[in-house]
Amino acid sequence: MCGIVAAAAQYNIVPVLIEGLMRLEYRGYDSAGLAIIGDGQIERLRSVGRVAELAAAAATTTAITGIAHTRWATHGVPSERNAHPHVSGAIAVVHNGIIENYESLRRELSAQGYVFTSDTDTESIAHLIEATLQTEPDLFNAVQRACRRLVGAFAIAVIDRSQPGRIIVAREGSPLLLGLSENGNYAASDASALLQVTRNMVYLENGDIAELTAAAVRIERLDGTPVERPVHVSQLSAAAVELGNYQHYMQKEIFEQPDALANTLEIVGGSKSIQPGIFGAEAAHLLADIDHILILACGTSAHSGLTARYWLEALAGIPCTVEVASEYRYRISVPNPRQLVVAISQSGETADTLAALRHAKSLGQMKTLAICNVPESAIVRESALRFITRAGPEIGVASTKAFTTQLAALFLLTLVVAKIRNRLSAEQESNYIDQLRHLPVAVNKVLALEDDIRQWAQRFADKHHALFLGRGRHYPIAMEGALKLKEISYIHAEAYPAGELKHGPLALVDANMPVISVAPRDDLLEKLKSNLQEVRARGGELYVFADGDSEIPASEGVHILRLPEHYGELSPILHVVPLQLLSYHVALVKGTDVDKPRNLAKSVTVE
Ligand code: M6R
Repeated sequence: MCGIVAAAAQYNIVPVLIEGLMRLEYRGYDSAGLAIIGDGQIERLRSVGRVAELAAAAATTTAITGIAHTRWATHGVPSERNAHPHVSGAIAVVHNGIIENYESLRRELSAQGYVFTSDTDTESIAHLIEATLQTEPDLFNAVQRACRRLVGAFAIAVIDRSQPGRIIVAREGSPLLLGLSENGNYAASDASALLQVTRNMVYLENGDIAELTAAAVRIERLDGTPVERPVHVSQLSAAAVELGNYQHYMQKEIFEQPDALANTLEIVGGSKSIQPGIFGAEAAHLLADIDHILILACGTSAHSGLTARYWLEALAGIPCTVEVASEYRYRISVPNPRQLVVAISQSGETADTLAALRHAKSLGQMKTLAICNVPESAIVRESALRFITRAGPEIGVASTKAFTTQLAALFLLTLVVAKIRNRLSAEQESNYIDQLRHLPVAVNKVLALEDDIRQWAQRFADKHHALFLGRGRHYPIAMEGALKLKEISYIHAEAYPAGELKHGPLALVDANMPVISVAPRDDLLEKLKSNLQEVRARGGELYVFADGDSEIPASEGVHILRLPEHYGELSPILHVVPLQLLSYHVALVKGTDVDKPRNLAKSVTVE
């Protein structure tokens, strides 16, 4: 996961940049770089490998303004020429995130004579700002204008040798905060990079742009509206993860999902196709003759597996079984050495999942894949293949961003297996990749529904039970919604495939049983609508998460929230987000301990 540090001060800031990058090393990276303004020139240093090597190269460099970056390769291999900062004319830029329209920008800027020297999407930002400076000479205004043309997720920092002492930063989707002090002002991807110089932090919002000089900071919106953001005094200890503007880690982690997804999907880069190698060097060989996929996991991670089963069977045409790890490890099963065993885990240390993986291997099933958020964990170490989700540390016991990033990883697996089995045309592959790339933006739009969901939450405060309904690939999403609600609000919640209602649970429905339904516009919507009528006819109160174009009208006892975008196969990743928000706000209304619900632990490392 890339990291940004920027500093404008009254003293030599190079050690601050280096120390900041070292503090961000935990995010993972493969190259690093910095740019400073010295003697009216941009001086740029870049290296593949550790920040320590960059530090050695910068030992004699001094400057009062500079930007720095750790890069995790996305568009283009890890190499010095792809490392940030990227330079165009008088300016240098560092960037986190994914620019979706970089190809069209690249064509446009190449036609204007700009020469691209890297494979990155970031270089188009550098040239775009330089081109904008030709008609808008003020750096702040030029960056503001250029950012309005960027589609995707970004956090950037820009310097200009002809306007020394100034740094312009902006964010949309990727995190960025400012650090304020008497001797200088700073920006970084997270607070830990700046604790060396200040505890006074300002969290930029999506769509903010700021100018930093050694003496002052100015913030505006990208549309030009001036804005003030509160200063927050960081309480962060070296080991902790900061809450920032959020009340709880769960809320923070729900809102980090666009960034977590962008980081997880960085591995696809700007490519139109996905290679098996993203799952490990051995993947092409190992996946070549599998005839079945067995997914082992617990809790939320098992729900991501259940969702993936719909994708794997429908798109890749491979049979798939999902089994709760604690059952598999003790059951007498029929081993199949040709099956791929996938262990999914946020922590990578869940005792049941680890034991199930070991059990699968003990039966001679050696084609194993870990989908995990912690690279050094036991489950990763003990699997032949691995995909590391880049959700960042998940502190809240209720898993949120780990789930959506697992889904993204499992969709990539589906595409890879589908390709190997000749079930995916180049056009389909490229369309799915475009959809994946747009996910962070789409999730951002869903997060904007929080206020409506907060109002719904009030109605759940006195309820003791709730029913969640979904169909097809959204049934596991209903299961995940029910798990979230029971886990943090202590309301008993059950999920059913909507078609099962009349086979039993309909007996429970009355005015005291809220029924939450995941209702995207897909092939099963008409059937789902009939199921919802069955609920309404028994006096059940319905809370429906529909798509903008699902024709379900609101009426008495039927509350509808419409998600902004219809998202086809990937719709489960969007539809789980309002369910997370609903549980969170119900828990707030009920006053439970959101991040540490009673009787539960974050990482279940015992049986
Ligand atoms: O770390 P893991 O993903 O292996 O954890 C599995 C479950 O313990 C976990 O998902 C649990 O269900 C969460 N608390 C749900 O929010």
